[in-house]
Amino acid sequence: LSYGLGIAYALQGALQVVLRLEIDLVSVERNLQYCEETPQEEPRSARVHNVEPAPLCDAWPDAGRLAFVDVTLRYRPELPPALRGVSFSVEAGERLGVVGRSGSGKSSLVSALLRLVEVENGAISVDGVDVRSVPLARLRAGIAVVMQDAVMFSGDLRYNLDPARACTDEALTRALRRVRLCAEADDAAEKLKEAVGEGGDNWSAGQRQLICLARAILRGAKVLVCDEATSSIDAETDGVVQGVLRERRATMLVIAHRLETILDSDRVLLMDAGAVAEEGPPAE
Ligand SMILES: Nc1ncnc2c1ncn2[C@@H]1O[C@H](COP(=O)(O)OP(=O)(O)OP(=O)(O)O)[C@@H](O)[C@H]1O
Ligand SMILES: [Mg+2]
Repeated sequence: LSYGLGIAYALQGALQVVLRLEIDLVSVERNLQYCEETPQEEPRSARVHNVEPAPLCDAWPDAGRLAFVDVTLRYRPELPPALRGVSFSVEAGERLGVVGRSGSGKSSLVSALLRLVEVENGAISVDGVDVRSVPLARLRAGIAVVMQDAVMFSGDLRYNLDPARACTDEALTRALRRVRLCAEADDAAEKLKEAVGEGGDNWSAGQRQLICLARAILRGAKVLVCDEATSSIDAETDGVVQGVLRERRATMLVIAHRLETILDSDRVLLMDAGAVAEEGPPAE
């Protein structure tokens, strides 16, 4: 009789294992479904837009000239346009500040440039090449962007700075020190191993932005876009970081709320209701 009782326990245990397995398999199934069935952006939409794909040289973009010509952008067909006939250009190595009220279309400029949303009208070119003719992966690899909300990956700090594992320890350490995430006295190797939780929630908002800036510096792209990249960083560190960015001689599009951030730009663009309201040197 007492052996019989043992069987009941064993059966219960086996049942629990089977149940657990079934739950876990559902998770696997969901992941597979996500990988296989999520609609993807078209990698190269030149044909859709009737733009002749341009032959790209290997170094593109090597100068970093940007040109927006009469760009109209709509997030969805039924919505009003977020950009209405925006035209401006940025010379190679120039630093353009962008200001404007909330909702005036500053971030939409970035969405259009990176083709997160396809433009409805007009054209955007980088070094004379229409971005619609460039494969998406290539386009986004050529432009470094620091978004309004810091993008963080779970893992360690090294993974966050260099997800592609393309940088040397020295380069990583130098970048960390330059954005002041790591003091001269600190052990950089230890710092690189520091954990980053989901969404980077074990770092402050300012630190997260500094990590993203360091990541952008390490990329060494010819075009760098900062969308309120230093909004949570104290003014002094912001000054230091702006200095570091300036040294890189890349073309920069700096979107900012704080006037000090864009005061040393070569030119400033004022956006209003999706259109360029004014353009001129920052002193004006
Ligand atoms: N993903 C989206 N889907 C639909 N509409 C959007 C989306 N993103 C922005 N918009 C609309 O586009 C307009 C411009 O938004 P945008 O984000 O470019 O403003 P912004 O100037 O960057 O503002 P902020 O200073 O607050 O960041 C807004 O009216 C907004 O409603
Ligand atoms: Mg914005």
